[in-house]
Amino acid sequence: MVSFSNSLLFLGAGAATIVINAGTAAASPGPNMEPPSPPSYRRSAQPVYQRSPQDSSSSDVGEEFTGDGTYYSPSVGTGACGWDNTDEEFVAALNADQFGSPANPNASPFCGRNITVTGPKGSVNATIVDKCPVCHQGDIDLSPTAFDQIADQAEGRVPISWTFVD
Ligand SMILES: *[C@@H]1O[C@H](CO)[C@@H](O)[C@H](O)[C@H]1NC(C)=O
Ligand SMILES: *[C@@H]1O[C@H](CO)[C@@H](O)[C@H](O)[C@H]1NC(C)=O
Repeated sequence: MVSFSNSLLFLGAGAATIVINAGTAAASPGPNMEPPSPPSYRRSAQPVYQRSPQDSSSSDVGEEFTGDGTYYSPSVGTGACGWDNTDEEFVAALNADQFGSPANPNASPFCGRNITVTGPKGSVNATIVDKCPVCHQGDIDLSPTAFDQIADQAEGRVPISWTFVD
């Protein structure tokens, strides 16, 4: 969804550029040139162009991601966010692709954010407390307690969709 949205915005910016170019050309029209017609073009392109900077800085809350849901033991060690958690807490590790590799992972803006994860069995809310190094874009590694809400542990790896709730 991210790339689809971005490509739409890119097209919008391109359309706006074309309109500007057409307007420039029309400033010195040749004898056979039609007068510039498209105030309607300009009206439709402009809002898309103006929305683009807002979108690029806007929050990802509500944006849906899909990937694999797995589970791990948060109790094994201190997580990437610098916190100690138990297997009974509703916590999760965000995939490395999205978490990235900040110099200080403890300061990652993802630490402490809440997500709603939906799997085959249901949905659960969990707080991001760690990074999952072997997980790919869209994947979430959940505490066993959180995973229990979306699938049976025997399944191990299940398709999920999820969103940031804050
Ligand atoms: C995430 O949820 C927990 C538990 O409901 C809450 O205490 C915390 O403030 C939430 N985090 C954010 C960033 O809102
Ligand atoms: C997750 O948290 C949101 C916001 O607090 C709430 O509306 C929703 O019902 C919760 N979902 C689950 C599955 O607990």
